[in-house]
Amino acid sequence: MANNSSAEKQRAQELVCVTGAGGFIGSWVVKELLHRGYRVRGTARDPADRKNVHLQTLEGADERLSLRRADVLDCDSLRAAFDGCHGVFHVASPVSNDVELMPVAVEGTRNVVNAAADMGVRRLVFTSTYGAVHMNPNRSPDTVLDETCWSDYEFCKQTGNFYCCAKMMAEMAATEEATRRGLQLVVVVPPMTIGPMLQPSLNGSNYHVVKYLMGTKKAYPNAVAIYADVRDVVRAHLLVYEHHHAHGRYVCFGTALHRSCFLQLLRGLFPRYPITSKCQGNDKPMVSPYRFSNQRLEDLGLEFTDMTKTLYETVICLQQKGHVPYQCLIMPYRRSSL
Ligand SMILES: NC(=O)c1ccc[n+]([C@@H]2O[C@H](COP(=O)([O-])OP(=O)(O)OC[C@H]3O[C@@H](n4cnc5c(N)ncnc54)[C@H](OP(=O)(O)O)[C@@H]3O)[C@@H](O)[C@H]2O)c1
Repeated sequence: MANNSSAEKQRAQELVCVTGAGGFIGSWVVKELLHRGYRVRGTARDPADRKNVHLQTLEGADERLSLRRADVLDCDSLRAAFDGCHGVFHVASPVSNDVELMPVAVEGTRNVVNAAADMGVRRLVFTSTYGAVHMNPNRSPDTVLDETCWSDYEFCKQTGNFYCCAKMMAEMAATEEATRRGLQLVVVVPPMTIGPMLQPSLNGSNYHVVKYLMGTKKAYPNAVAIYADVRDVVRAHLLVYEHHHAHGRYVCFGTALHRSCFLQLLRGLFPRYPITSKCQGNDKPMVSPYRFSNQRLEDLGLEFTDMTKTLYETVICLQQKGHVPYQCLIMPYRRSSL
């Protein structure tokens, strides 16, 4: 086992690439890699766009971060971005239910794995989603959701969940190509990921919080979702990258909450926002939270952040970045108690 300083020296020599570096999860992956001493190359379709300027303000970015233009549909741009890299974190993907964007996620992932193999990359971490794991109407309520579970592709297609279809196919394509090319692949499976944002614009999963805070959503569904803090999801990416024996899928599930409990937490922290208390379809029995297991990640040492702390810090960030107004002048929740 390398001691701390030799591990740090080793990281300083390692160049790693993060695709989709300017996005919500991508930015945190870049930040954590810089914090741990890596040299980082981040890709964006337009690195000069204002939406990526926050990356250059990260600690260590001046000396150890460079940005490259790359599109997942452009293999030459990917090969140029991966040149000299030991590892690749493939985070980029359209986060969209638009059926026309499915090939970008699937063929894009195939391209990334092949470009990485062409350039002699040793290890690739792929960001999948629990949309590829939990969407199965025939799963028994007793099933423990873990790495062995897959969503039902036909069900996702029939219900218009094309994002889940795309990510399932992208994950399968990544596994197939990595096996064929002899590349070490590890897959992280995050659920609905929320937390403070480094990027200036609002991403899809934090909009999930905004739409309730702003009262845009007039009633909540009788549904359960699993949530995780973005910083836990990112620590999972680093853990599976650095543990060289780690392979296959790793689910990263923080907390399963019925939407009513999620909103109760939010209301308890920020009672002055117009958060709905109306349930759609409350004539049906309340959906029960799933059972799940993070055993594989916990064995690597991951500990999960309390969802109350995550929600609190998410809303403070949303206020500071101007995505929601400062409705809550008296903070009912004290930072010191977090
Ligand atoms: N947030 C969640 O709740 C969640 C949960 C599970 C899994 N995930 C997965 O985590 C990853 C990041 O999601 P996010 O929430 O951070 O979303 P995000 O903020 O929207 O970031 C998506 C990134 O993908 C990039 N991208 C999209 N199309 C691309 C293309 N054709 N070529 C190259 N890059 C492209 C975008 O880069 P540009 O700057 O070039 O536009 C952007 O940086 C995705 O793979 C998503 O499926 C997210």
